[in-house]
Amino acid sequence: MTSRISLTQYLVEKQREKGLIPAELRLLVEVVARACKRISIAVSKGALGGVLGDAGTNNVQGEPQKKLDVIANETLLEANEWGGNLAAMASEEMDHSYTIPNRYPKGEFLLLFDPLDGSSNIDVNISVGTIFSVLRLPESVVDVSDEHFLQPGVKQVAAGYAIYGPATMLVLTVGDGVAAFTLDRETGSWSLTEDQLRIPEQTKEFAINSSNSRHWQPPVRRYIDELLAGREGPRGKDFNMRWVASMVADVHRVMSRGGIFMYPRDNREPEKPGKLRLLYEANPMSFLVEQAGGAATNGLQRIMEVQPTKLHERVAVFLGSREEVERVTSYHRD
Ligand code: AHG
Ligand code: MN
Ligand code: MN
Repeated sequence: MTSRISLTQYLVEKQREKGLIPAELRLLVEVVARACKRISIAVSKGALGGVLGDAGTNNVQGEPQKKLDVIANETLLEANEWGGNLAAMASEEMDHSYTIPNRYPKGEFLLLFDPLDGSSNIDVNISVGTIFSVLRLPESVVDVSDEHFLQPGVKQVAAGYAIYGPATMLVLTVGDGVAAFTLDRETGSWSLTEDQLRIPEQTKEFAINSSNSRHWQPPVRRYIDELLAGREGPRGKDFNMRWVASMVADVHRVMSRGGIFMYPRDNREPEKPGKLRLLYEANPMSFLVEQAGGAATNGLQRIMEVQPTKLHERVAVFLGSREEVERVTSYHRD
């Protein structure tokens, strides 16, 4: 019988044999993974679990919260607050960061998450996910606050997402490539199903919400027009399009078989630099994509080099197969 490598074994190897991560980070990732398992169970109950529908509240970004946004947020907070490895947490669903209460020991890491990504898909039984990012607390900080989370993505020490689809998977990087684990629902364990995931450099598939096309700015319009022109156009090949509207699901497809995912800044609300959030959506996804050989920019620079100024800051996102991301980025520079 061939036995599969568990998440714990994978992380222990990174810690012990490669010396890549400290034990505290390994334990922290395992706790996040455990919380994702619980969220997966809640998601999979659907209408039977009473988890569908609106919570009747709005988050700090003015978006209505779904019941599962709130449940997933609480699950991650409860699972992570007592472990001793964290100093604070920040989330899409909380106005400000949450400092670990004094009754628990504090650690040296900061955890950020989008507890439930793709909320609009919950009630229609389409894949959703959880996205997370781990940073180090800057040295000699005693009172943690929002400002300590404002670190560029290159400072991340781990990032990943869980996707709650036909199978529940965890896709993870600790800066040594990307590994994918599949949840065995019978045993409750995460098994390594893909080590060293790589995104193909070339692709014939793109993802963008084209209902916004009338608001697009010229570089995006030019790039998409060329893709749509297909074999007869300047690209000389036909492209296919997919849009799930759960970033986790769209990025997971790109991670699995290549493609480019875009959520550009547009002229709907020109003061907003995009829709997706830098710290807990774009940065962790960019870390994963780069670790898998792809690229991620905001059209002008590497997303992971953007210096954040606000906890819930937004950013334009172009990520996936390297050649396509470089092309659309070069159109912005022209
Ligand atoms: P969230 O559910 O965490 O608020 O994120 C939704 C995001 C992202 O998952 C997805 O790519 C995008 O919103 C979809 O936006 P549109 O509905 O504008 O297509
Ligand atoms: Mn999201
Ligand atoms: Mn969300």
